[in-house]
Amino acid sequence: MNIADRFIKQNSLTKDEFIELILLAEQDSAVQQKLTEEAVRLRKKYYGADVYTRGLIEFTNYCKNNCYYCGIRKGNRNVKRYRLTKEEILECCERGYELGFRTFVLQGGEDPYFTDERLADIVRAIRSGYSECAITLSVGERSYESYRLLREAGADRYLLRHETANEELYENLHPKEMEFARRRQCLYDLKKLGYQVGAGFMVDSPGQKLWDLAEDLVFLKELDPHMVGIGPFIPHHDTRYAEEPAGSVERTVLLLTIIRILLPAALLPATTALGTLDAAGREKGLAAGANVVMPNLSPLKNRRQYELYDNKICTGEEAAESRADLAARVEKIGYRLVSGRGDAWSRDTIHTC
Ligand code: 5AD
Repeated sequence: MNIADRFIKQNSLTKDEFIELILLAEQDSAVQQKLTEEAVRLRKKYYGADVYTRGLIEFTNYCKNNCYYCGIRKGNRNVKRYRLTKEEILECCERGYELGFRTFVLQGGEDPYFTDERLADIVRAIRSGYSECAITLSVGERSYESYRLLREAGADRYLLRHETANEELYENLHPKEMEFARRRQCLYDLKKLGYQVGAGFMVDSPGQKLWDLAEDLVFLKELDPHMVGIGPFIPHHDTRYAEEPAGSVERTVLLLTIIRILLPAALLPATTALGTLDAAGREKGLAAGANVVMPNLSPLKNRRQYELYDNKICTGEEAAESRADLAARVEKIGYRLVSGRGDAWSRDTIHTC
C-alpha cells in the first residue's frame, strides 16, 4: 500500500510520512487525484454540498505586534490606522444580516484600545440584536480571563492561527516578545472555554520547509480544532520579507485536501489569500475539500487599509455585497452557498444531499 492509501485508511501519519505524502502527491497527479476524491467524499459526508459563509468585519488595523510578514505590523509607519466604532460595527452586522450572513467574524490587530470591557460590550450588543447568529472573534492572544469574559458576553467561536508548529520557524517569523508556547496555550484555553476554535498557518512562509508543514499537520491532529484557516504567504512591500516569493496555490490546495482527510469534519475556508493569488483560487479550494468562504463586510472606506499583504482582494467576488455572484460561482462547481450559522459538524447535523 502506498503512503496515500495508508493516509486515507488511517486519517493520520507521522511527520516523516507526511513529508513522503506531500512529495509523492506533488510529483504524481494520480495520487493527488485520489486524495482529492477522498477529501470530496468526506466533505460531502459531513457537509453535503453546503458552503458556509461568514461576514468578515475587519474592525481595527492597529496592532501592538510586529510579526515580520504582516503589513499591519506595529512598526509599519506607512499604514493609515483606523478603528471602527461600536455603531459602525453594528451597521456592518445589519448590512450583513440583510445580505444573508448568519456569522459575523470580528477580526482585528491586537489593539489595546479594545479592552475586555469595550469588546465584551460590542459582543453583547451583537448577541442581543442577532440572537440566531454566530459571533466569531479573531483578535489574537489574550488572557484566559479575557477569553472567558468574551465567551460569557456571547462569542461562540475564535480564530487564532498558530502560524507554524515549528518553534524555530515561529521565531523567524515573529519578534522575541511573541512566544511560541503562549500562542498554543491560547488555543488550548479557548477550547477549554467551549469556543469553536480555528487554528491555521501560512503555506510557504519565508524559511518554511516540508518538515515544518509536517509538524503543522501533526499539531492539527493533536489540537483537533473545529476550523483550520490556511493560505499562501504573500509578500507585503513594507516588511522584511518584501522580496520573498509568494506561496504556491497548488501546495495550498493540496494541503486543504490533506487537512480534510486528517480532520474530516473540520470547517475549512477557501481563504482570501488563495483568492488573491489566483482568480479561481476560491473555487480551487472548494473543489479540494474547503467548505467555507468569508467575504468582506468591512466599510468600503476602510477595506484597503487592512492590507496584510500586497494586492489583498477586497472588492468583486470577495466582497459581501457580491453574495449573489459568489453563489452563482459556487453553484457552477456543484456546491451551494447556504445562509445558516454554519456550525462545525456534530452528530445532530442532518444533510439533505
Ligand atoms: N501573507 C499571507 N497571510 C498573511 N497573514 C498575515 N500576513 C500575511 C501575509 N503576508 C495571515 C496570518 C494571520 C492572518 C490574519 O493573516 O496567518 O494569522
